[in-house]
Amino acid sequence: MKRPGGGLGKSQPKRTKREADEVSSLESQLGEAAGAPADSQDVAKRFDDLPISEYTKEGLREAGFTRLTAVQRAALLPALCGRDLLGAAKTGSGKTLAFLIPVLEVLYRRRWSSMDGLGALIISPTRELALQIFDELRKVGKQHQFSAGLLIGGKQVKAEQQHVNGMNMLVCTPGRLLQHMDETPGFDCSQLQVLVLDEADRILDMVGECCYAPLLRPGCPCMPPLHQLQSPDFGLQSMITFASVWNHKYRNRCK
Ligand SMILES: Nc1ncnc2c1ncn2[C@@H]1O[C@H](COP(=O)(O)OP(=O)(O)OP(=O)(O)O)[C@@H](O)[C@H]1O
Ligand SMILES: [Mg+2]
Repeated sequence: MKRPGGGLGKSQPKRTKREADEVSSLESQLGEAAGAPADSQDVAKRFDDLPISEYTKEGLREAGFTRLTAVQRAALLPALCGRDLLGAAKTGSGKTLAFLIPVLEVLYRRRWSSMDGLGALIISPTRELALQIFDELRKVGKQHQFSAGLLIGGKQVKAEQQHVNGMNMLVCTPGRLLQHMDETPGFDCSQLQVLVLDEADRILDMVGECCYAPLLRPGCPCMPPLHQLQSPDFGLQSMITFASVWNHKYRNRCK
């Protein structure tokens, strides 16, 4: 667990009118983009030209990211509009930012705060990959106020349990996530807004026949089934899945 109870970045003043105005402006830009036919959309080539918050743009600038890669150009606008995504792109093509930016932006536009609980869950098949995602999240999300945790095993689960319920975002491996679902009192995913499966083909291989990873086990009280999460009572906005290979097995199992 990193930065227990703390924000991703430095401490920030309370939300300002500038943020409220920015959120309205972003909502209206994305509303127009969502309504336009996909082939008429002029997809931005630079992060500075995307309809995203100044906080994320600053994080990207500080981390040295300027131009979008191909998968980011294809995925970012639909994901920012809140669409579900099922993507595949080769290793090293920049898939991490293609889901981290929408994760940050969906929570920012929904004015997510420390009081709102877990808003985004990112599942990765291995500790090493989860750690890389977490590092990138800390860089790009540095200016935001969200709290974020890393649940990857190899450490005492008890230490994580003290902080896990205060996190707005979690990056985790399937096994450790399951352990918290089983053993951490009050662990609650029911307010989730964005669910990401990175290397989804590998996660699905790990968890066998159960689609959507272990978190959607029937009867798991802290994680309602996907169709319920997407109902107005819960409000899951989008599910983003990425893989490094595109094949029918992956596509069919994610459907
Ligand atoms: N727009 C960008 N401009 C410059 N570098 C980028 C950009 N997007 C990502 N990168 C960098 O490219 C490298 C690979 O990115 P990333 O790990 O997201 O790829 P990936 O598609 O997830 O690969 P894998 O399938 O191996 O997980 C990282 O070092 C990342 O910081
Ligand atoms: Mg990756």
